[in-house]
Amino acid sequence: MAIQIGILGLGTVGTGVVRILQQNAEDIQTRTHCDIHIKSILDKDLHKEREVKGDFFLTDQPDQILQDPEIDIIVEVMGGIEPARTFILEALRHGKHVVTANKDLIALHGHELLDAANLAGKDLYFEASVGGGIPIIAALKDSLAANRITDVLGIINGTTNYILTAMAEQGREYSEVLAEAQQLGYAEADPSADVDGLDAARKLAILSSIAFNSRVALKDVFVEGISKITREDLAFAAELGCTIKLLAIAKHQEEGIEVRVHPAILPLSHPLASVKGVYNAIYVVGDAVGETMFYGRGAGSLPTGSAIISDIMRIVRNIQSNSTSSINCTCYLDLPLKAVSD
Ligand code: NAP
Ligand code: HSE
Repeated sequence: MAIQIGILGLGTVGTGVVRILQQNAEDIQTRTHCDIHIKSILDKDLHKEREVKGDFFLTDQPDQILQDPEIDIIVEVMGGIEPARTFILEALRHGKHVVTANKDLIALHGHELLDAANLAGKDLYFEASVGGGIPIIAALKDSLAANRITDVLGIINGTTNYILTAMAEQGREYSEVLAEAQQLGYAEADPSADVDGLDAARKLAILSSIAFNSRVALKDVFVEGISKITREDLAFAAELGCTIKLLAIAKHQEEGIEVRVHPAILPLSHPLASVKGVYNAIYVVGDAVGETMFYGRGAGSLPTGSAIISDIMRIVRNIQSNSTSSINCTCYLDLPLKAVSD
């Protein structure tokens, strides 16, 4: 069996996807019994120097990919709301499955897109939208599905954790470390989304919607970022045997759901205090399983590419078994929202 892929965007994540599909082609083929081939890639500037090469067709015309009848799966790694939303809807309309890393889009338009995928009988997967390479969405959606989840708590932004770690441990300047995180491909196109906590809030809206089988909107998430945290704050926390982390917290209690993102002082003995650099960690509590913890690189080309390809491989298996398994948003609990006091 052969599957043709079209990729929208050849930046940090798109490059990671191409690299892994090329480097690990044999293992992926053995595991799926399928040749996964990149047919075309959309990018704006066709003349720019690329980090990856291959027999793919490079185009700046989206329709040459979205309307190509030979392409089975579209990978959207351009970012932003538009034209990404329109391209995904068009891909579904043209009978393609879709994989995206776009948390902005999923947090704001996830229900619309999932409804469109369900209507088209196609899959829409977004493992890479939260936690980089950590398989947290598959865990919440599938592995922990037997549980009533009560808590999702963690560090889910790699850029801010990279900045806070370097400020705390090396006494480095905020702006200098942010520039480094941008250069390493960790930060969003507009890095204020990272430092202001919006990126973590988007991810928390996605995680809590899946964990609690509810509709948690981005506007429901209380957000405070790290821009007011100084090296002095971190030094003071260290004197107390503590550190400062940007935490994302979602709780499902009797009174309703509470969702918030803000910096928090943690004792150094806390498991999340030892999550450093670009690493993320997500602690999930379920009534049957108890406490679980997921840990790994939360951003970057290859970790995020790894999550994208896991979704592609899931879709290949669904194609082989003639099924789909995207989240169906028609069955969800209408849970009240608990106010967060700052
Ligand atoms: P990036 O490095 O900026 O790559 C995006 C690429 O898409 C760029 O080459 C860009 O071209 C191209 N592009 C944007 N709009 C386009 C359009 N309309 N037509 C054609 N090409 C277009 O971003 P990234 O870091 O790979 O992130 C991509 C997505 O993955 C985002 O949704 C991001 O939030 C998500 N994500 C990123 C990471 C990470 O670690 N970087 C992790 C998880 C999820 P130009 O550069 O010319 O604009
Ligand atoms: N900018 C994001 C982060 C990328 O730093 O976590 C991964 O989603």
